[in-house]
Amino acid sequence: MIVIESPADLRRELNVRRNQGRRIALVPTMGNLHAGHASLVDQARSLADEVVVSIFVNPLQFGPNEDFAQYPRTPAEDESLLIAHGAHILFRPTVQDIYPRGQGESAIVHIPHLAEILCGEFRPGHFDGVATVVTKLLGIVQPDVAIFGEKDFQQLAIIRRAVADLSVPTEILGGTTVREANGLAMSSRNRYLDPSQRAAAPQIFRSLSSAGKKISAGERDFAAIEQVATGELQNAGFKPDYFSVRDAESLLVPAPTTKRFVILTAARIGKARLIDNVQVQTSP
Ligand code: PAF
Repeated sequence: MIVIESPADLRRELNVRRNQGRRIALVPTMGNLHAGHASLVDQARSLADEVVVSIFVNPLQFGPNEDFAQYPRTPAEDESLLIAHGAHILFRPTVQDIYPRGQGESAIVHIPHLAEILCGEFRPGHFDGVATVVTKLLGIVQPDVAIFGEKDFQQLAIIRRAVADLSVPTEILGGTTVREANGLAMSSRNRYLDPSQRAAAPQIFRSLSSAGKKISAGERDFAAIEQVATGELQNAGFKPDYFSVRDAESLLVPAPTTKRFVILTAARIGKARLIDNVQVQTSP
């Protein structure tokens, strides 16, 4: 694996490989890599000849009171994991490389409505930061395919929309959420959990799964389902931002015709804000 910091160097290197007919995949990350990221790299390797992984802790997607400064940075461990999983190129740009004009002066990608609901309501500007940096990374790397974890379901929907609306010729794929044996979704922010919070954390997946079973069984009183789950999370020590049943295509409140549902939650405990979701497909 080679490590490249400058966008110009990366472009030069990728042009050589592209001209040899090699298919390129991008896995964008913010580092502090874990088994969830490793599975995205494995998926990328099965789809392309060259796997580029970017590590960039994007300041634009953090609010003023969020954890940009504390966000875990583990460059040596990240490199080892990427080598073990066969990534070809690690792209590690600086903030200056990505926002040479300065953050406040650069173009912003905003996805109306989708960026303002659910997590967007609690993290204003977050998804503008995500959509902007991902559009920028896709422009630098010009990959055939880019892969993002489904744990960040709303993020994936926003990236799909940005790519469609801006005619970016990259295929966007989701990677299945990797979970610990107790159901807790792998996340860099799990590091913020102390032992008692870690013991409480699997309640998120339990509540999502039990809501999913109710929907599969035909229950359609979504407000009641959300209320029960919110209570369960509060009893386990969480402060839920939201627990919501949505149509998986539109992320709107389900319509009577909805067949594919997603149940999403974001809940705070101690210093951590954890997000997760489960999808439910009812009969066609
Ligand atoms: O999911 C993440 O790690 C980030 O939001 C992403 C997609 C790499 C953009 O900074």
